[in-house]
Amino acid sequence: MKYFRLVGVVAASAALVGGALPASAAPSGSSTIGAPGLGDPFFPNAGNGGYDTDHYDLRLEWDPTSGELSGTAIIDATATQDLSRFNLDFRGFEITSLKVNGNKATFTRDGQELVITPRTLLRRRDDMKIKVSYHGVPTTVIDPDGAVDGWIRTPGGVVALSEPQGAPSWYPVNDYPTDKATYSIAMTVPKGLSAISNGRLESKETEGAKTTWRWEAEQPMASYLATMAIGTFTVTSGKTASGVPFVNAVEPKLVADSAAAIARTDEILTWEKGLFGRYPFDTVGVIAVDAPDVGYALETQTRPVFTTAVDESTYVHELAHQWIGDSLSLTTFPEMWLNEGFAQYTEKLWAEKEGTATAQSWFDGVYALPASDPFWTVAPAALPGPQELFGRAVYERGAMTLHSLRTTVGDATFFRILRTWVSQNRGGNVTTKQFIALSEKLSGKNLNNLFKAWLFTPGKPSR
Ligand code: ARG
Ligand code: ZN
Repeated sequence: MKYFRLVGVVAASAALVGGALPASAAPSGSSTIGAPGLGDPFFPNAGNGGYDTDHYDLRLEWDPTSGELSGTAIIDATATQDLSRFNLDFRGFEITSLKVNGNKATFTRDGQELVITPRTLLRRRDDMKIKVSYHGVPTTVIDPDGAVDGWIRTPGGVVALSEPQGAPSWYPVNDYPTDKATYSIAMTVPKGLSAISNGRLESKETEGAKTTWRWEAEQPMASYLATMAIGTFTVTSGKTASGVPFVNAVEPKLVADSAAAIARTDEILTWEKGLFGRYPFDTVGVIAVDAPDVGYALETQTRPVFTTAVDESTYVHELAHQWIGDSLSLTTFPEMWLNEGFAQYTEKLWAEKEGTATAQSWFDGVYALPASDPFWTVAPAALPGPQELFGRAVYERGAMTLHSLRTTVGDATFFRILRTWVSQNRGGNVTTKQFIALSEKLSGKNLNNLFKAWLFTPGKPSR
């Protein structure tokens, strides 16, 4: 979805996922205890300190009758400090075995914190192989904006959509976008169902009444971008006209209405390459599940998920996220405009290129809202709270910020800023401050007033 409209439900999630403990309050310095959270202003318990993950190997099975998810997660990580104890983020489930480097480890649970004590002290730079076997019926999370997040039952099966905090509802994880890792995801389901995930389909094997689908995501990704969709899908695969391997999985009911947008995949990718530089991943595709109650689409890496039929503009948005949001990731959640403002503005650029509407006419339309309109009360880079994380200011005013930048520095410089931004930060994490610095550097202009008014100051900016 282009922007996630706020729904009536308010901040239930903080309570749901456990009390807040800012990283500043967490032990540090010479302690050998890994911090329970990374201190994100909106999700202080998300992520953990003391180690860095390299690879997740998820070997799971899902039973549609009982709803139970079971299996083993093997996480390869490297200690970044001496560790006598460290945490993973994980919600629910019964853990039947937990090993670190082959030795049984003891553990306790506290909300979303899985607190692990390995048998022996881990030294800084040690390899860690954490093996967690678990089973249970996953629970979804309700986000501060009222949206569902995590392992979501759909009329036809299940879909995992994890931005910002759903990943721990289906696998144990260091749940923060600054710790990217590669993934091998295997899912066993009853024969006849499909299990679609990120990356490349490595194999699909049927034994008796069950089929195992194995996926390899070979480029590091943020934990919230890992996905799994189980159900009855029409699966197609091949190569796009310019040679990118694709797998599309669309529920039969949505095939007809998704066809036109999907047919333009290569055109959209090629045009976005022109904006942002080479496509960052080695495969592409869509997952379309019929779950309109979810209310949003998600830019899951290499294979965005739609919860209604795929429409062209949203497809342009979710593919833009492959560069901006996925290859370039956030450093903290309150800077969400860096993802959504850019993806939203890409839709406006597409409409302009298609001759449907200029970005200027779109801007003028929104700008016509009177200063008293509630739209102007939220500044995209100074959000009042997590309930606004996917609100209209982040998407629309974020995109308007980029349009104001464009009209201030001129097209040539603006598009050079976009390309440089993406190529310089490929595979990394970014901040608003860095974007402002780059814009000033490439334009040779002091842009302080522009960004201050559009990003940081509530109220309607003057032109
Ligand atoms: N990033 C998604 C998009 O492409 C929206 C995710 C909304 N999530 C939520 N919890 N409200 O716009
Ligand atoms: Zn988006």
